[in-house]
This record gives sequence, C-alpha cells and structure tokens, in this order.
Amino acid sequence: MKKKITILPGDGIGKEVTESGKKVLEQIADCFGHDFIFDEALIGHEAIEATGNPLPDETLTKLKNCDAILFGAVGHPKYDNDPSAKIRPEQGLLKMRKELGLYANLRPIKLFDELLEASSIKPEILKGADILFFRELTGDVYFGERGRKDNNDTAYDTMIYSRYEVERIAHKAFKAAQTRSKKLTSVDKANVLESSRLWREVVQEVAKQYPDVKVEHMFVDAAAMKLIQNPKSFDVVVTGNLFGDILTDEASQIAGSMGMLASASVGDTVGLYEPIHGSAHDITGKGIANPLASILSAALLLDISFGLKEEADTVIKAVEQTLKEGYRTRDIADAKTPHEKVLGTEVMGNVVCNQIRMLV
Ligand code: NAD
Ligand code: IPM
Ligand code: MN
Repeated sequence: MKKKITILPGDGIGKEVTESGKKVLEQIADCFGHDFIFDEALIGHEAIEATGNPLPDETLTKLKNCDAILFGAVGHPKYDNDPSAKIRPEQGLLKMRKELGLYANLRPIKLFDELLEASSIKPEILKGADILFFRELTGDVYFGERGRKDNNDTAYDTMIYSRYEVERIAHKAFKAAQTRSKKLTSVDKANVLESSRLWREVVQEVAKQYPDVKVEHMFVDAAAMKLIQNPKSFDVVVTGNLFGDILTDEASQIAGSMGMLASASVGDTVGLYEPIHGSAHDITGKGIANPLASILSAALLLDISFGLKEEADTVIKAVEQTLKEGYRTRDIADAKTPHEKVLGTEVMGNVVCNQIRMLV
C-alpha cells in the first residue's frame, strides 16, 4: 500500500516521542511491504519562531494533501507563564482540528495487564478496565465567543453547542457501542448548563435509533469520581470538548500514565493521530519521555485511516511483549516488576521495533 503520512513533531517531548512513532511506521512498512512516504511540517512554538504563525499555510496545505497525520504536541513555558501573549502554540492545534473538520476525538483507555502495578489505583479495581472516550473536538467553550469587557476587568468564554454537532458525535459513539458491550455513558452538566441540556436532549433523541444500546446520562462531577471508584463500570463514553479533555487526563491514570494514552481525531477529511499528553516541559530534553502513546497512536493510524488491522495489531502486540519482558520508561516503572529494565525514549522505541520484527 502506498500512502503519504505527514509528521508534525511540534514542541518539547512532542519531537522526542514522534521519532519513535515514525520509526514504528517505517518498521511496519518494511515488514509488510508498504510504501509510506513521510513529510514533515511545522506547528506550535516552533512554527511561531520560524514564521510568526502557529499553523503556517504551508503546513495546512500539506495536511490537506496527505493520507494521515502523526502529531506530537505543542506548547512552551514562555506562553504558559504569559497570559497576555496573543499568538500561542495551542492555537495551531485548535485551528488544525477546526480546519480539517476533526470533530471526533477517540481516546481509548486501555490498561495493559503488565501495568497493573504502575497505577496509583488498586490493581483489583483496575484489572479489566477498557474504556473508549468520544470527545467532541471542534465545538464547546473552545470555539465559542470569547473576549474581555469592562475595561479589561471581565473575561468570558461561551460554552456553545449546536444540535448537529451533538448529533454527529453521538452517532459515532452509539455505533462504537454497538460493536462493544452496547453500553454508552453520556457525560454533561445538564443540571446547570443550557448547552448541556441541549446535549442531553439530542443524545436521548439519537438513542432511539440504537435501541440495542443501553444509555446512561451522568453529570461530569459524578463521572470524575466514578472513573476512579469503579472504572470497569464504563465502556463507551461520549462527552463535550472541555469535559472530555479533563476526564481523559484523569483516566490516563487507569492506564498507568499520560505516556500511555493515544488518540485518533477523525471527521470530514484526513485523520490525525496524537498522544493525549502535551509537550511536558518538566521532562523535555531529558530523553525519558514514554514513546508508547505515540507508538499506539501510530497503531490507530494504521487501523483507522489505512484499514491495516493486522499491522495495527502487530504494533499493539509488540508493545505488550515489550512490557511483558519488563521494559519500562520511568513514568511506568514500579519496584514490583521482576527484571524491570528502565529505558529512555529512543531505546524504548527501538525495543518495540525489534519486537515487531520478531512478530512478523
Ligand atoms: P503535559 O501532558 O505536557 O504533562 C503533564 C504531566 O505528565 C507532566 O508531569 C509530564 O512530565 C507527564 N507526561 C506527559 N507525557 C508524558 C510522557 N510521554 N512520558 C512521561 N511523562 C509524561 O501537560 P502540562 O504539563 O499541563 O502542559 C505542558 C504544555 O503542553 C503546555 O504548554 C500545554 O498547553 C501543552 N499541551 C499540549 C497538548 C497537545 O499538544 N496535544 C496537550 C496537553 C498540553
Ligand atoms: C489536548 C490538549 C489541548 C486541548 C490543548 C493543548 C489545546 O490539552 O489535546 O488534550 O485542550 O484540546
Ligand atoms: Mn488535554
């Protein structure tokens, strides 16, 4: 299969982990006889430094003309500590999602058995947890009207959803629920917010077309609690942009680390694959970031954008085998694993590539 893949390393550890994600795609191409053509483009702080724009036109053109995108992360401490900065790395990511119509962000929370001891949650509560989040990605308070008034003393961001935006993400989530345990949890704050009341109304309406799926509505505060209390009680979850952002960082603890969570952003056009984590200034440049979220994002790319199921499964099996043999990055290391070997980013990526070669 011949495909064009654009790599967007971005900033901080985004660059470090994406190297491993790319290496895994090259390894898969090599082992299965595919022709993946890679191209790179600028985004985020790096793009601002080079062009003044966090998503240069040249990048957008490349993205619109490729078959899939592997993205790292954006962000820089310079902006995090300067609320007055008008041009910011994160704007590049948000504009990319909007321009490419990527309204559905799938965030699988899959706990590898080997990492049961890596989490701060008790193993008996965690074992068997497997959740698929559908985070709406191009609406909500992220894209509502915003501004300042009262001589700059009042600021506002508007939480806004339209019927069609809720409908299309709900359909995707219901369809996924039909292929899993036929249970869907819709998370909102309908006891307070009007946009959430529309959300709940639309999900109830869409539910009529999926009578085989059991729907449960949950307020976001309760959902945040229940995710940790009983993660196994969730299967497919559908929620808005902001709630989905927060709940999935929380849910990363079910999988052991932020460094384990991959995601797929899909919608009208090309698919974008990215770890859920950010540029992690605290560990940037140390070579210790966990590359597995990027590698598992590459697996989602192979599966969803290219329909290469066997190749995607091979990547997942290679990760599993890597963990089974005791290889860990620092974030998922725990004193209880026998023969544990704590590796840096690059070597961990190489070990996964070796495992792929042994599996094929
Ligand atoms: P973060 O996700 O970058 O880091 C949170 C914590 O998780 C940190 O302690 C970090 O060291 C750890 N962590 C994250 N990924 C890891 C990995 N692969 N391996 C090991 N440990 C990992 O979130 P933050 O610190 O709140 O944000 C830092 C910057 O990243 C900010 O500028 C923020 O805007 C940006 N950000 C970008 C994205 C994105 O590009 N998708 C996502 C989140 C945050
Ligand atoms: C994510 C990030 C982004 C978001 C930021 C960096 C804009 O946190 O991808 O989860 O909030 O969507
Ligand atoms: Mn986030």
